[in-house]
Order: sequence, then C-alpha cells, then structure tokens
Amino acid sequence: MALIGSLEVSMAFFVFLLFRFLFSKKRHHALLTNWPFLGMLPGFTVEIPRFYDWIIQVLEVSNLTFLFKGPIFAGMDLLFTVDPANIHHILCSNFVNYPKGPDFGEIFDALGDGIFNADFELWKNLRKSAHALLSHHDFQRFTKSATVSVAKRGLVPLLDHAAKKNTLVDLQDVFQRFTFDTTLTLITGYNPKSLSIDMPRVELADAVEDAEEAIFHRHVKPRILWKLQNWIDFGLEKKLKNTVAIADRECAKYISMKREDLRRGTQPKGDAMDLLTYYMNLDENKYNFLNPSDDKFLRDTMVSFILAGRDTTSAGLTGFFWLLSKNPEAVAKIRGEISAEMPRSINRDDETQLDQVDLNKLVYLHGALYEALRLYPPVPFNHKSPAKADTLPSGHKVEANTKIIFPFYAMGRMRSVWGDDASEFKPERWISEKGRLKHEPSFKFASFNAGPRTCIGKQVALTQMAIVAVEILQNYDVITATEGQQLELVPSIILRTKHGYKVSITKHRLG
Ligand code: HEM
Repeated sequence: MALIGSLEVSMAFFVFLLFRFLFSKKRHHALLTNWPFLGMLPGFTVEIPRFYDWIIQVLEVSNLTFLFKGPIFAGMDLLFTVDPANIHHILCSNFVNYPKGPDFGEIFDALGDGIFNADFELWKNLRKSAHALLSHHDFQRFTKSATVSVAKRGLVPLLDHAAKKNTLVDLQDVFQRFTFDTTLTLITGYNPKSLSIDMPRVELADAVEDAEEAIFHRHVKPRILWKLQNWIDFGLEKKLKNTVAIADRECAKYISMKREDLRRGTQPKGDAMDLLTYYMNLDENKYNFLNPSDDKFLRDTMVSFILAGRDTTSAGLTGFFWLLSKNPEAVAKIRGEISAEMPRSINRDDETQLDQVDLNKLVYLHGALYEALRLYPPVPFNHKSPAKADTLPSGHKVEANTKIIFPFYAMGRMRSVWGDDASEFKPERWISEKGRLKHEPSFKFASFNAGPRTCIGKQVALTQMAIVAVEILQNYDVITATEGQQLELVPSIILRTKHGYKVSITKHRLG
C-alpha cells in the first residue's frame, strides 16, 4: 500500500511538472526544462536533429552562456559558451588550466596519440614539428602546385563534363573529393584521384565521414551508453570500429609504399615535400617523444592530418558557394577583382600560372572566404575542461573536468558579438577603409580556434579555397539546382549537409 501511495505522489508530482512545463508563459521555447533525475536530456534529445538552430536560440536568450544539466550521476553537464571573454580566458590567457584532458582522448580515440589528442610536452613537440613543415617554403610551394594540379586534372574535367552534358553536380561531394585528393597528396605524395568524372567510391573517405558522425554522438550521449554500444558492437560505435580498421589498413599501405620509395630512391624530386617523407626523415634529436621509425606514430600523424585538412576545407568551400548563390553582387565583385589583379593571360591549360600569382592580392575574395568561414565554420564546435576549478569572466563557476563546449557555428551568428546584421553575408565587414583585410581577434572569430592551439593549417586552407574559387568563378556559372533548396546540416564534428548541395554548371561567358 505504502508503495502504491508513493507511486501516486510521484505521478502527481510528474503531472504537476508537465503542466508547469507546458503552460509556463515565461519560458523561452528553446530553453529546456530541467526534470528531476533526467535533467534536460529529454528536451535535448528532441533538439539534436536541429542542434545548430536550437543552440543559436538558446545562447541568444542566455547572454551567450548556457548550462545544460544532464541526468543525475551521468556526468553529462555541459556548459555552452560563445562569450568572447570566456573564450579568451579559456583558450588564450588560462590555456594551461584547460588541457584537452583524458575525456578528449577517449572521445577521439580513433586519432590515437596524434596532435589533436596530445597535451603538454608531447603536444609541444608535435606542434613544433608540424609547424616547421607547414611554414617551410618548399611545403608551401608544394601546397600550391598540388592544389592547382588537382584543380586542372580533377575539378576542371568534371565541371566541363557537367556543363556539356547538363548534369547536376553535388558540390559538397565534389569539394570533399577535391580536398581528399589534395590532402592525401600533401600527406603521402600520391594522388588517390577520387575526383574524376566517374566519381569512384573511396573507402577511406567514406570511413572518415562515418567517424565524424559517431564522434559527435559521443559528445552528447551519456558516456556509459556509448561505452556499452562500443562493447556490444552496436550502431554508430560499430561503424566507428569499422572506420578505424579501414584507416589502419590504408595508412599502413601508404607508409610501406613510402618506405619502399625512400629505400629505392624513387621519391619524386623537385618541389614535392610531403608529410610522410618529412616525418620519416625527422631529426629525432630535435624533438622529444616523436619516433619516426614507429608505424603507429606515423599512422596517428596521418589520420590527424586527414581529419584536419580534408573535410574542414571542403566544408568551407561548400558554405562559400552556397552563400555566393544568394549574393550575386558579391560574385560580380570577386570576378571584377580577379580580372583586375589576374589578367586573363592566366591560361587554363598552364598549370604553373595560378600557383605563381600572389593570391593575397584578392582582398575582397578573402573577405568573402572569411565571411563564409564565420557563417559556416567547418569545425562547428570545440570543447575543453578545466584541470582545476575556475570562475569564468561571465561569472560561471566551473568545477575541475566540467565539459565546456564552444559552438562556433552559433558564435558567428550572435548579434551581440557581430552586430544586428550578424546573419548576413557581408565580405565588406572584413575590409578596412584603406582597402586592406581587417583583423578580427580569434576569440571573436574562432573558426580556426584561438590561443596556442590555433589551427596551423589556416594558410594551407585559405590557399586551397582561393585557388578553387578563382578557377570556378573565372570559368563557370554555378546555379543552385532547385529553388528553395536548403543546406540541412548534420550534427557532426565537421560541418556537413545531409543531402549535399546540388547545382548545375554552365560555362561562364565574359561580361
Ligand atoms: C577551413 C579549414 C580549416 C578550419 C576551419 C580549421 C579549424 C581548426 C580548429 C577549430 C582547430 C582546433 C581543433 C582542436 O583544438 O581540437 C584546428 C586545429 C588544427 N588544424 Fe585546422 N582547420 C582547417 C584546415 C586545416 C588544414 C588544411 C590543416 C593541415 C594542413 C589543419 C591542421 C590543423 C592542426 C594540425 C591542428 C591542431 C593544432 C593543435 O592542436 O595545436 N587545419 N583547426
């Protein structure tokens, strides 16, 4: 009887809470009800499919910082913040108290001990060695020549074919293949040629996509649940295991091919300076903890750079062309700038030209690229945890190991950060009165992260994006295939649309 009595009391309490939730006038519809035991999880689960729009609304009405309460004992409380002062505090001025930590390494275990998971001395050595490569003149030349080569041999034939046959093209797929080919070329020296008219299936590229989705779910599921799924080989966790096996196999193949090349001396000469060759020849005395003769070290480095370079740059390009489709006046301005700065003598068949011009002269184009990266940041969120309890500039107290999430996608659209026109595409925002590119501090424009862990591939990404933009805008008109087509974003660690971005292509006639 006592049990029935207490059940009735619990039911009555539950109904009371339900009514309060449904009929509360003060509550903003995007804010979640904090239920006993379950916390905000029920409402959050409903919002996951529209995560990106939901988090914008929540942060707008929560003064840029919102505490999500997870179920009791699930260790799932999350502090979402896009407050630039908090971001500066965590990523820049108090960097030492905010390492990636063991949670990060567990969620991203597919990356092994690569730079994304590393902390402290290991991270310092990985970063120093990667920085030495990426800032090397030969590598920068190789980046340009490899990008132009994939543009001329993969992208141009495909777009010419689509224009001639009047077939639809999925630009998201095209750009993913483009950056897969350039990234693999920069990492291994070999072009896998996934971008071609017959669009072959590439197992490693598909695997990366599956891994990105599974890793996102590890961020928002109770840890115990995804651990269980992993243990019983179920759902996205099963997919993730499969992708890791594919990545291991593919990396092992490239590593042994490269070792063989180096042994036989058949390594391409000239400006080719790929990442594997660089790491295999690394001077071990200069770096602690890095072991170039260990295949696991090379595998982890390769996988980290594939994730870093491939889908990020392609997502930036998809967002850029999507925004251009809505802003024809920006297209006209970019074309005007290209003709003024790069006269038409840049012959489409001459590969050496585009990689020799100074792309930085294209100021308006860069403004447009930054604007696309602000509105569609390829890494839509990042997370950190304090090693020791701390108080953020916003006044929020955080215990050690609290998960703090920075939803960069929402950050680029916050009116209180970017002004009332935050959601509009305005390349002019990035151009100073003197006609130069304006600098925005990274804790406000955080698409490339901020502080000591700022992206080190930013210049590689911008070079690739500028080359693709010039190649396409000089030669083609890109027309959104269906009126009313939307970019339906998939919750993932890298921005991606569910149904791609379908366009038709025609040859551009000079105006
Ligand atoms: C538009 C393209 C890109 C965007 C938006 C982007 C963004 C980011 C972000 C947000 C981070 C911080 C991630 C974290 O701390 O977990 C990061 C780190 C990093 N990025 Fe990029 N990235 C891009 C392209 C590239 C490219 C092309 C490369 C390599 C060639 C690259 C290499 C790296 C590396 C190595 C790190 C780790 C830095 C560290 O932990 O010290 N990125 N990037």
